[in-house]
Amino acid sequence: MTLLPLPDSLTPLLRETTIALSAMPDPVGAARAGAYEEELAETFAAAHAVAVSSGTAAVHTALAALGIGPGDEVLVPALTVIMTVSPIVALGARPVFVDSDPDTLDIDYEDAARKTTARTKAVIAVHLWGRMGDPARLRMFALGHDLAVIEDAAQAVGSSRDGYRAGTVGSAGCFSTKDGKVLWSGEGGFILTGDGTLAEHARAYRGHWLQPPPGSRPQAQLATNARLAEPLAAIGLANLRRLPALLERRRAQAERLVRFLDGAPGLRVLQPARGEQWNHYAPLLHLNLPQPRAFAEHLAEQGVPSSTGSFRLVPCDTRPAFTVRDHPPCPGAALILDRTLAVVLDQGDDEAVIDRYAAIITKEAATWEP
Ligand SMILES: Cc1ncc(COP(=O)(O)O)c(C=O)c1O
Repeated sequence: MTLLPLPDSLTPLLRETTIALSAMPDPVGAARAGAYEEELAETFAAAHAVAVSSGTAAVHTALAALGIGPGDEVLVPALTVIMTVSPIVALGARPVFVDSDPDTLDIDYEDAARKTTARTKAVIAVHLWGRMGDPARLRMFALGHDLAVIEDAAQAVGSSRDGYRAGTVGSAGCFSTKDGKVLWSGEGGFILTGDGTLAEHARAYRGHWLQPPPGSRPQAQLATNARLAEPLAAIGLANLRRLPALLERRRAQAERLVRFLDGAPGLRVLQPARGEQWNHYAPLLHLNLPQPRAFAEHLAEQGVPSSTGSFRLVPCDTRPAFTVRDHPPCPGAALILDRTLAVVLDQGDDEAVIDRYAAIITKEAATWEP
């Protein structure tokens, strides 16, 4: 698999940022963010897109727009990063960690059902590493328990399953465009929703409720500043217009890496589920080696970055910030994180980088002794 260079990578970025910069300073200007929102909605076939300052702000704003607050509980997989969970706590609600199925990486719905109470208002599905769980099952579970569905699709731009695009399965889909994501803008994020009222509330919330949704008054409630800066909206817009090329590059990078690794001792390449079009955000390998987490850390020392080896990703329910432990830790999430090598790729990784990663992983797996 040859990695083709991205066509004209800088020219459109420069053009869009120049348009944004030439209109500045303009304290009320949001022309690039407005154009970005229109093209986001069109690209993902969503009725509304709301641009915000980060993926964390997207989750926070979506929860706030749904009215989640003190006294509410939100089901969230332990198999996630802390940024999915901190907005729940910031809004005064309670995260309830649910387990994941080690065979599918999807939510363990039996565990989720056991932990649903009269206070549960929403479930967040996290498409970690770009992998999507079963959308029909998610919708059925939410319908059966009268819950709103929020997707943390921060890593899943371009993924889809059974005809559902990531971020369009439930009430709100939340994305990050922080550098390193396939669609990037330095910092940034956005929400997709089919619900006009939710979109209005999200727009009001990201701007201090200064422009209120119909039926409400300015600053009738406290909100925050989660607006996306114009130069970043311009970068997002230019990258959105070449999203197919960005997705194709990530797929080619991932395929080149795993082609060399499949069948290597102690390694098994994880494949998408039937009906799943995976964006290959992070190529995934099941590690059948002793002390797999130590192996991932060892690889990171040798220059191969991964979720667990470099970023020490652990199940979120075991983080010290979550001191109230009224449920035992989630064993499926722990097993998945211990045994999965999720290689961190970047747009700039060329054939030489990918081949070096493959050579290091193969050599170290063959000689691994913890
Ligand atoms: C799964 C997931 N959720 C949320 C976030 C938060 O996004 P941001 O860093 O843009 O706030 C990230 C980003 O790293 C992420 O990977």
